[in-house]
Amino acid sequence: MSKIAIMGAMPEEIAPLLEKVEDIKKVDYAKNSYYEATYKGKELVIAYSKIGKVFSSLTASTLIEKFGCQKLLFSGVAGAINPNLKIGDLIIADRLCQHDLDISIFGHDFGYVPEGAKFVESDEKLRAIAKEVASKNSLSVIEGTIATGDQFVASTERKEFISKNFQADALEMEGASVAVVCDALDVPFFILRAISDTANDDAGVDFDEFMVSSAKISANFILDMVESI
Ligand code: ADE
Repeated sequence: MSKIAIMGAMPEEIAPLLEKVEDIKKVDYAKNSYYEATYKGKELVIAYSKIGKVFSSLTASTLIEKFGCQKLLFSGVAGAINPNLKIGDLIIADRLCQHDLDISIFGHDFGYVPEGAKFVESDEKLRAIAKEVASKNSLSVIEGTIATGDQFVASTERKEFISKNFQADALEMEGASVAVVCDALDVPFFILRAISDTANDDAGVDFDEFMVSSAKISANFILDMVESI
């Protein structure tokens, strides 16, 4: 049976999962905690990475290389760029990019480094499962580009830069780094985010108010998907 990794960045993003899964066994490794568990007959390993691209790369690599996970699902919250995305709405990443990766001085596109790719695509089969789950539960989800960077964005100017250079629909701080790791190790991955704010001047206040409820929306959706994987 295939082992499925589910990761978030913050404790609040995995707490709703840990409330619902069974047979939890905590394993401490590399200054982090990993929760082996089962759900509806599926073997899971759940962890939150801590915020940002470096910690999330470490956790994704560990889930794959140490725990032997063969698929990886990410659950969490994001700031909206696409005006159709409201707080609490879900976005499935069909591709991800790093908006803060910049060697443009050498004539490269923002987000590109030699031997890398500006965009990494997520697994199509997992996305198809997500769309089935959404239609079964009459939930509307947007599929689009997620931009990742090591900064909490709370500025319309930065939002516009990311929108213009990456045509991104939402932004967060871990998706693209997880995507790069999974792509390199040939592990199918899926990134889901529920909107907690719109990355504008009020983003900090909105994030504090809506992060927990949006994280729950995302986590519940991910667990519905696990049944179909
Ligand atoms: N995650 C949720 N909201 C965010 C924002 N505004 N910037 C970066 N990451 C986020």
